[in-house]
Amino acid sequence: MAAEFVVDVKNLSKDFGDVKAVRSISFRVEKGKVFGFLGTNGAGKTTTIKMLCCLLRPTGGDATVLGHNILSGQMEIKRKVGYLPETPILYEKFSLREFLSFIGRLRSMDSGLIEKQSERLAKLFGLEEEIDKQISSYSKGMKQKASLAAALIHDPEVLFLDEPTSGLDARSAKMVKDLLVGLSKKGKTVFMSTHIMEIADELCKEVAIIDKGSIVGIGDLRKMEKGAKARDLEQLFLGLTGGEDEKELAEFLK
Ligand SMILES: Nc1ncnc2c1ncn2[C@@H]1O[C@H](COP(=O)(O)OP(=O)(O)OP(=O)(O)O)[C@@H](O)[C@H]1O
Ligand SMILES: [Mg+2]
Repeated sequence: MAAEFVVDVKNLSKDFGDVKAVRSISFRVEKGKVFGFLGTNGAGKTTTIKMLCCLLRPTGGDATVLGHNILSGQMEIKRKVGYLPETPILYEKFSLREFLSFIGRLRSMDSGLIEKQSERLAKLFGLEEEIDKQISSYSKGMKQKASLAAALIHDPEVLFLDEPTSGLDARSAKMVKDLLVGLSKKGKTVFMSTHIMEIADELCKEVAIIDKGSIVGIGDLRKMEKGAKARDLEQLFLGLTGGEDEKELAEFLK
């Protein structure tokens, strides 16, 4: 059977004034994969994810998500994808139950299903006791979990996750990793950005490495490591995104 590509990006670019945040990148993500999007700070990961979720208009190029164009199919894309922002965007005056209900209604879900999904997700993230407490009283990790719950409420076909394990303790991070693998086994597609090499290593068979807005490596992780004669992903990543860090550090420590 021919591969089905859920995300198809062609020469996508984004400028912010003089800053070329994303420079004509192209890649495809197959259905049911956990695809890793790696890059250093400021490489263009968040900008790319926002364009694919129709939250930011590209300067050039094109992309489709689930066959819908990001310029003309915004309504469909926004309805079908789950998006985890880099920093949780939550209505802090709401309780988690109220927040999930609000998001569920935006997703046109009926109230019975919203209630059922909210309870399931609160349980999954260990927030059953907190579900009726104001989000403003949550810790950083709890807010991240609330944000993940909101991304999952409508059981989306595709998930765009910007640093999904950010702020999570080891146990919670492990649960989220297992969750993402489990969802991909059920046919959901996960597109996730990360700085954390071990996470990419564990979860993603395929990755794209972005550096200063351009893709500098893409494909099967193991093959890329072999091709570059890199010991591990970290070495591959450091090789492809080479900077002046060591020189700067020596200068600073002088
Ligand atoms: N709203 C904006 N206005 C101007 N420049 C921006 C804006 N958003 C991002 N940029 C610039 O675009 C580039 C890419 O930023 P982006 O947030 O996509 O990086 P990132 O890969 O997500 O980094 P990080 O790992 O730190 O989250 C950076 O140079 C950043 O300064
Ligand atoms: Mg970012």
